[in-house]
Amino acid sequence: MPDASRLPTIAVLATGGTIAGAQSAAQAVGYVAGAFDIGRLLAAVPALGGMAVLRPEQIANVGSQDMRHDVWHALATRIRALAADASIDGIVVTHGTDTLEETAYFLDLVTAPGKPLVLTGAMRPATALGADGPANLYAAVALAAHEQARGRGALVLMNEHIHDARGVQKIAATGLAAFDSPDRGTAGVMQAGRPRFHRPAAARRVAWPDAPLPDAAQWPRVGIVYAHADMQADVVEYMAQRYQGLVLAGVGDGNAGADAMRVLADAASRGVAVVRASRTGRGHVAPNVEVDDEGLGFIAAGDLNPQKARVLLMLALMSNTDRAALRRCFEAA
Ligand code: SIN
Repeated sequence: MPDASRLPTIAVLATGGTIAGAQSAAQAVGYVAGAFDIGRLLAAVPALGGMAVLRPEQIANVGSQDMRHDVWHALATRIRALAADASIDGIVVTHGTDTLEETAYFLDLVTAPGKPLVLTGAMRPATALGADGPANLYAAVALAAHEQARGRGALVLMNEHIHDARGVQKIAATGLAAFDSPDRGTAGVMQAGRPRFHRPAAARRVAWPDAPLPDAAQWPRVGIVYAHADMQADVVEYMAQRYQGLVLAGVGDGNAGADAMRVLADAASRGVAVVRASRTGRGHVAPNVEVDDEGLGFIAAGDLNPQKARVLLMLALMSNTDRAALRRCFEAA
């Protein structure tokens, strides 16, 4: 029996997802995400008891397609408190995989990079043959308990690979190898319950670890406009009237047809913050290459994908709406 007084204490904050999903039968294709609570998930991995003292908390129990800003607010508030709690050594968040990268990046930006913070999920529901949730949860707790995970901000653990929140993306709709860090590379790998990092922690130049977070209902509205062939401008017009910030998930180098670009430029001239990102999933959207960002009042997203550019723009708009300041924020991210 391990000596519990010597084991690290890990808080496990559960939010739902496929890792907590249930099928009608182990071979069934369909399932309901967020069916099991955190107690059931932890009970399925008895080996965790020998590794850490666990402090489970159910923050939400949703499929992550339904992840909302009020849950992000609750997570950030709780993680900031746990970071200041001397009895806690590390934090794990269980999450659906669909928007996991967005939550990870949000938490990375609003919490201090001190204690290990690890997000994990599963591609197969808890009741499936060969469910990946137990192994991911075991590795996530091992990572959160490890000294080398300190000071790295939010990490994502999926399928034995460790990713930085900044670079990770869900890159496949199905299959166990659904996560990658396309341009930046993975941060490391878990081997026999210990992390092997490929590089030192990256310095963060943009973050709001101590800024008070207003109620989620007061957060700036930032939406994503998806470009495509024969794109009509009416949807852009509709959003430009209602949102304080728009991210273009542009074709190629963050571009769109002339009509859509004209509406976006009009919106920018009226004070809507417009960020150009690429729908391609990798590469770097640099300012003033294909598009005259300076002249049209746009901001280039660099290598942030549209969904992460949305998170950054929303947080940046909470403290500053000045175009030059927003540009600097994206250049430093
Ligand atoms: C979800 O994101 O909640 C559903 C999909 C998954 O967790 O893999």
